[in-house]
Amino acid sequence: NNTKGLKDYYQEFFPIGVAVNGRSLAGQEAHLLLQEFNSITPENAMKMEVIHPRKLEYNWALADSIVAFAQKNRLRVRGHTLLWHEQVPDWFFLDDQGAPVTKDTLLKRLKDHITTVVGRYKGKVYAWDVLNEAIDDNPKQFLRQSKWLEIAGEEILAKAFEYAHEVDPDALLFYNDYNSERPEKRERIYRLVKKLVDDGVPIHGIGLQGHWSIFEPSTSDLEQALERYASLGLQLHFTELDVSVYPWEKERRRKRPGEIDALTPALEEKQIAQYEMIFSVFRKYKSHITSVTFWNLSDRYSWLDHYPVQGRKNYPLLFDRNLERKKAYYKVVDFKN
Ligand code: G3I
Repeated sequence: NNTKGLKDYYQEFFPIGVAVNGRSLAGQEAHLLLQEFNSITPENAMKMEVIHPRKLEYNWALADSIVAFAQKNRLRVRGHTLLWHEQVPDWFFLDDQGAPVTKDTLLKRLKDHITTVVGRYKGKVYAWDVLNEAIDDNPKQFLRQSKWLEIAGEEILAKAFEYAHEVDPDALLFYNDYNSERPEKRERIYRLVKKLVDDGVPIHGIGLQGHWSIFEPSTSDLEQALERYASLGLQLHFTELDVSVYPWEKERRRKRPGEIDALTPALEEKQIAQYEMIFSVFRKYKSHITSVTFWNLSDRYSWLDHYPVQGRKNYPLLFDRNLERKKAYYKVVDFKN
C-alpha cells in the first residue's frame, strides 16, 4: 500500500519524527514529511543563538511557524534544546559592562529563558531536550567544562529541569547525548542521570541521539545500552538518528582532492544492513522506546554534508536526493526478522 508511511508501519511501536528547518514546511519536502512522519523537532530554531540572540530580544518567527505547522497537521513536537554548550550567544555570560556575570545572575538568566520559551509552547511541545551533551568527550573526564559550569557550577544542570518543570509540569523532560551506546560514555551518562533521578529532579527520559554510521554501533553495544538505561525506569527516545556512510573522523577538515563521495552499491549494502539491524533492535525494545526521530528528512540535505568534512556529500537518511524511498526504507518497514 503506497499511501502508508513510516508512521503507519510503526503505529504499534512509537512515533517517527524528523528534524526540520524552514525549508521542510512547504512544497515537496512538506509533502514527504506529512506522508511519512508524525513528530518533528526543530533542527536549530529553538536553540538559544536563534531564539534569544540578545538579552531583550526573542526571535520567535521560525519556531512559531514550526509549531503552527505541527498543530495544523497534528504532529507531535519535541523541543530542542534548553541548556547546551553550543550555539549560545555570549551575552548570557556578560554583564552590561562586558564583565563575567555572577552565578546568581546566570541562574536567573537561564530561568528567564527557560520560563519564556517553555511557557510559550506549553501544551504544544510535549517533550523537551532540556540538557544536551553535558558529558565530556574525554572518557577520563566526567562533565564537559563549559561557561555554564564554570560560572554556576554543577547544580545548574538540575536547575534547568526544575525551571522547565515549573512552567510546564506536563512536558516530558529529557537528557540528550551522542555516542550514548559506547560503553565508556554509557556509564557516565548513566551516572549523571541516576544522580538526577536520585536527587528527585524532574527528568522523564534519556535521548539517545543516534548519529551512527555503517560501522557502528554494534548490535550488542546498542542492546546493552538500552538495557542499562531502561533499568533507570525512564522513557528512551532516539532523537537524532542518521547512518553516515563514512567512518566518523575525529578532526574537522576539508574534502581532499580526488576524494570520492558517492553512495556506491557497496556502501549502500552496508547501510541497508545497518538500518535493518537498528530497527529490529528498536522493535525488540518497544516497551522502553517511545519515540524515534531522524536528523533531517532526505539525502538532499543533511548536516553531515558539512561535518566533520566540509563539502563532502553524505547519504545518511532513508530518502534519496529526489525524495524517493531508498532500499534501506523497505528493510525498515519489513518486520520479518
Ligand atoms: O545561520 C547561519 C546562516 O546565516 C549562514 O548563512 C550559514 C552558513 O553556513 O550558517 C548558518 O548557521 C549554521 C546553522 O547550523 C544553521 O544552518 C551554523 O553555521 C551551523 O554550525 C549550524 O549547525 C547545526 C549544529 O547543530 C550546530 O552545532 C546543524 O544545522 C544542526 O543539525 C546540529 O544539530 C546538532 C544537535 O542540535 C545536537 N546534537 C548534534 C547535532 C549535530 O551536530
